[in-house]
Parts: sequence; structure tokens; C-alpha cells
Amino acid sequence: MPESTSQNPEHKRRVRYKGTHPRRFEEKYKELHIDKYGDDVQKVISRGQTPAGTHRPICVKEILDILDLMPGMIGVDATLGYGGHTQEILQKILPNGKVYGLDVDPLELPKTESRLRSLGFTENNFIARRMNFAGLPQLINESRCLFDFFLADLGVSSMQIDTPDRGFSFKLDGPLDLRLNPNRGSPVSSLLKTLNSEELAAILHDNADEPYCHVIADAICKYDGPVTTTKQLASIIHDALTQRRSVNPDDIKKSQQRVFQALRIYINNEYGVLDQLLSLLPSCLNPGARVAFLTFHSGEDRRVKKSFQNGLRKGIYSSIAPTPIRPTNEEKRSNPRSSCAKLRWAIKR
Ligand SMILES: C[S@@+](CC[C@H](N)C(=O)[O-])C[C@H]1O[C@@H](n2cnc3c(N)ncnc32)[C@H](O)[C@@H]1O
Repeated sequence: MPESTSQNPEHKRRVRYKGTHPRRFEEKYKELHIDKYGDDVQKVISRGQTPAGTHRPICVKEILDILDLMPGMIGVDATLGYGGHTQEILQKILPNGKVYGLDVDPLELPKTESRLRSLGFTENNFIARRMNFAGLPQLINESRCLFDFFLADLGVSSMQIDTPDRGFSFKLDGPLDLRLNPNRGSPVSSLLKTLNSEELAAILHDNADEPYCHVIADAICKYDGPVTTTKQLASIIHDALTQRRSVNPDDIKKSQQRVFQALRIYINNEYGVLDQLLSLLPSCLNPGARVAFLTFHSGEDRRVKKSFQNGLRKGIYSSIAPTPIRPTNEEKRSNPRSSCAKLRWAIKR
């Protein structure tokens, strides 16, 4: 066999999956190996889907316009996720600028940190911290300066939604967990054992405006045995609602989504930490600093809107978004996960 040279490279066979039907998530998706399967990744994106193990950042241009970044600026991406926004921000603030990227997720954060390091971002310009954004003021002790910009892209990343083991979605079966940090607290499956029907209905109503909260809560609490998997919960909701003639399959799917959303918000105390962040944020910002929040449902958007309006009234912010900015139709088409996003901004006085 001839030796491989640059003109005559040795042909390497593509690595095949073991067996004909890979069972494990990591074996299933070529997109998890972006370096090897670039063309496949582009095909997935052009179908309007998100390649497994990645997250497509939303409203990037709009956010960069709002933040009005310059070289040397120092600021925070409070929800680092896959680091898509941070990567774009870094291009604008180098040289001498710095991003603190925060995330509560101990599983995804190290992957994102090494991805950004492999792109050449060093500790001088990008710091990754596993922390809750509600603790933002503690970061000032480390940065020793107030921030020039701040971004929060709330909720969950595509990596979290698409990994069945995390239990965020009922498309694939997995343990009913839904914690952003699975090393802290208890999974939703344990929570459900402790709640009575009234308490559960209140969570579904308060966190997701679920119209059938009482019917669903009753069905979950009366279920014979523990509810431990995502598919099990989805089918309990399905069975409880199919008995009602006025509810069609689309309504059932929406209820299933709202129940998962409500339980996720509850188990991660998402409203509690968002309220805390919104009240502490101004004290962490330089005069003129720009702030952007991407929200994905009315409970989040209402909180951000109220906080900005109060801040404007009290003279904390000099200017705020009069109405939320929405992704363009093109972005919604190419990335359906962006379709319910709302972007609000504020400028610190
Ligand atoms: C929508 S994703 C962010 C995606 C990111 N902008 C990107 O471009 O890849 C939201 C991320 O925020 C994280 N997160 C949610 N609540 C948080 C909190 N209270 N503190 C820190 N991180 C949080 C989640 O773990 C998730 O990784």
C-alpha cells in the first residue's frame, strides 16, 4: 500500500456506529461530532432543526445592536449555555474586553468552556463560572469592577432539552428530573410524591396558566404508583384529557408542554431567582451599561417588563424597550425554537 502524502492522502473509512440501531444518545447523532460531520450539521440546520449537542443562539444581531459593544468592555452573559452569544460578543470586545459566562448546569458548562477555549479564547478574555445568576453581586468581588453590558437568555438550552437523561422533554423517554443542576435538590419525580392535588394544581396554574390544572393534578395524584419517567407523565396527562370531548390532540400537546414548563419553573425556582436578579442587577452596572433579556413565556416577560418600567420610573434606567423585539420571520422559520422569544432592553442611567 502506498504511503500517505499530502497529494495522495490515505483514505480513511468513516467511523461506523456499532450495530445497525444505535441505542445510546451519543452514538445516535452524527451532529454530536461536528468536527467529523460538518455537512450533516448543515443539513440538519437547513431543515429548521438544531444539531444534537448544540444550541442555536437567538436574535444575535438584535442583541449585538442593543449592547453596542466596543473593544475593552467587560460584562456578563448570565446564561452561557452553548456559548453562542458569548462567542459573538467576544469578537466585538477584543482586545482587552472580557466576558464572564455564568451557568448553573455542571454538565454542559465544562463542555462549553472547552469549546470556547478551543476557539482561542483564554482566561484573559473569557471566564466561565458555574453559578446562579441570582448571585451576580458576588461576581463583583472577583471582577473588581462594575459591568458595561449584561445578557440573560432565559430558560433551557437545546442540549438540555434534547438529552433524554435530563428529563426536560417527553419526546423521548427519560427520568422525570428537569433540574438545571442535577447535583442539587430533588428531581420532579420526588416532588410529585410530596404534593397534594390542590398544591400541584396551583403550580400548574401559577407557572404556566394551565387551563386544565385541576383535572391534570387530580390524575397525577390518583395515579397508581410513582410517576418516574417523562413518557409516563405525558401519558397520564393525555389519558386525563382525552376523556374530555372538548379537548383535541393539539390542546393535549399544549397542556403536556405547559405542565413540563410549570414543573421545570418550580423545581428550579426560576421566578424566584429571576426576581432576585432583576432587583440586584442595577447595582452591578456602570452608568450607561446596556442590558438585554430574552424571554420565552409570559411569566418571564412580565417580570422583566415590570422591573424595567419601575427602574425607568425611579430613574435607575435612562431608557427601556417600549415594546419587546421579536425574532424576524426568517429566524422563526429557520429556527422554530426562537418563535416565542421576546427581547427587552434597558440602559442604566
Ligand atoms: C437558553 S440557554 C442559553 C443559550 C445561550 N445564550 C447560547 O447562545 O448558547 C439558557 C441557559 O441558562 C442556564 N440557566 C438557567 N437559569 C439559570 C440561572 N438562574 N443561573 C445561571 N444559569 C441559568 C441554563 O442552564 C441554560 O444553559
